[in-house]
Amino acid sequence: MPGRGSIRLSGVEVRYGSVVALRDFGLEMASGEIVALLGPSGCGKSTALRAICGLQALSAGEIWFGDRLMNTVPPHHRKVGMVFQNYALFPHRTVAENIAFGLAVSGVPRRQHAARTGEVLALVQMTERGGHYPHQLSGGQQQRVAIARSVAVSPDILLLDEPLSALDKQLREQMRHELTQLLRGIGITTVFVTHDQEEAFALADRVVVMHDGAIVQCGTPAAIYARPNSRFVADFLGSISYLGGVLERAETGTGTVLLDDGTRLRGQLVEAAGIGTRVDVGLRWSSLRPAGAAGDGGGGEGSLAVTVRERVHRGDRVEYRLEGPGGRAIRLLALTATGAAHDVGDRIRVRADANDILLFRPATGPIREGEPA
Ligand SMILES: Nc1ncnc2c1ncn2[C@@H]1O[C@H](COP(=O)(O)OP(=O)(O)OP(=O)(O)O)[C@@H](O)[C@H]1O
Ligand SMILES: [Mg+2]
Repeated sequence: MPGRGSIRLSGVEVRYGSVVALRDFGLEMASGEIVALLGPSGCGKSTALRAICGLQALSAGEIWFGDRLMNTVPPHHRKVGMVFQNYALFPHRTVAENIAFGLAVSGVPRRQHAARTGEVLALVQMTERGGHYPHQLSGGQQQRVAIARSVAVSPDILLLDEPLSALDKQLREQMRHELTQLLRGIGITTVFVTHDQEEAFALADRVVVMHDGAIVQCGTPAAIYARPNSRFVADFLGSISYLGGVLERAETGTGTVLLDDGTRLRGQLVEAAGIGTRVDVGLRWSSLRPAGAAGDGGGGEGSLAVTVRERVHRGDRVEYRLEGPGGRAIRLLALTATGAAHDVGDRIRVRADANDILLFRPATGPIREGEPA
């Protein structure tokens, strides 16, 4: 029998009038699992959370918590905690009062409020702040209070909508770590929404990539990164430069391409393409590395002759902007210690593992990277 805190959605559809915001949405989560919904604005992430917590009726499909069908169960009987994007703390109530208010609304007897409030404040390391007002707290602290309030009633499931998006970059990275510790510590089944792939990868056991109301790919962060199943997913994970070439050979999952300058590269065939047809060759910036000077013949097959056009220091890294075959722009991120050696105008060779070279059918829309250098 499925355990407490497990979730199963099958064939879920949500419509707003003629807009289909969620289509054939299916997801199973084990108790205690953390799943991130990742996708661009308007793809249906918040709608999915609203459907799970019962704020949004389904036009088709089923939602099960454990062995209980939830479709007609009202939100306050679902034992789901939800943290909205803006935290929604009451400004005129102290931290402790904010938490106690949540307990009162859920029908927890008044005599238990102080003890439970103390417990959850300790959980989020805010014990000393019970008497403070929200405006006296940083964004990260407010966010912890919002989480404390939603877990105070001991929900089976926690839903977080863009929990870190209101924070500045530095605080967001710090909170990412703290939030992971906190969620793992409570061991609560969690669905959180983000449009930031780094956040999804850092926090989640599994990532669900969404596009236009549907799930495009679902898997562990490592699996999705290693094997994106479409150009949409690969592009969304980002940091790719594109070259053009012709597909010469294809085996299961891999292909060999001839670039416009005669270079041959082997890569991962993300989308099926015909032999002899043109393909887009995506190079992940982070995986490219220098492979000797262009003239020394040490590069060989699998490496690419490029010209250094620009060198930008980025703290611990140097970003090289390179010009590759066909005048296409390529970026290379190299650790300062190993990669500071190239100057503007140098001809060098770069290489990447076949796993980090992604082959796609040519894009019909605008190309984001790999525009003429
Ligand atoms: N109350 C509503 N009435 C009509 N259409 C809506 C309503 N809420 C959302 N939509 C539409 O449904 C789609 C999905 O919206 P949703 O809010 O779930 O997206 P999202 O992925 O959370 O986006 P964002 O990242 O911008 O928050 C969008 O096209 C949106 O315009
Ligand atoms: Mg949203």
